[in-house]
Amino acid sequence: MGMKSIEVLVLEHEEISRLLERLEEECVKILEGSEIDYEFFENSIEFIRDFADRVHHMKEEDILFKHMSETLGVPAQKLINSGMLVEHQMGRHYITELEKHLETFRTQGDITDKLQIISYTMSYVNLLRMHIEKENTVVYPFGEKNLPKEVIEKVEEESTKRQEEDKVEEDRKEKLLKKIFR
Ligand SMILES: [Fe+2]
Ligand SMILES: [Fe+2]
Repeated sequence: MGMKSIEVLVLEHEEISRLLERLEEECVKILEGSEIDYEFFENSIEFIRDFADRVHHMKEEDILFKHMSETLGVPAQKLINSGMLVEHQMGRHYITELEKHLETFRTQGDITDKLQIISYTMSYVNLLRMHIEKENTVVYPFGEKNLPKEVIEKVEEESTKRQEEDKVEEDRKEKLLKKIFR
């Protein structure tokens, strides 16, 4: 039987992937001449920081990836530390830069900032698509296949607890998604 905690992570990937589609669509609109929709970007950044990152990425880092690094030796440590964790960091960096250029474009209206808005948004989209694909097809199956039974039980237990804690934010998430996809 597969791990429930991994099923949940894969479902979260599907939700994040829908946002990536929506971000790409918004970039196309800008290229075609639409005004920057600041509210859309603010809501998307809030979703990315609070849910894609703080809920999803931190759950990976604190639970599944932590146990994989501790249990599965050097190859797993490399895959996680110089692969997954570095990519989480890059994602955070792209979002910080995106936010900066949204602000400078709003106040100064320089076309270069508009270009950077599209560039950093698409950098994030492309990074996360590749990252999600790698986790779904390589990293999660590697963990599921190789973690010893008692560690799997620990991962499941800690993940269930974390999901319970994260539930208090569920309403805010749904509201945000409604605004993003309206
Ligand atoms: Fe990840
Ligand atoms: Fe992930």
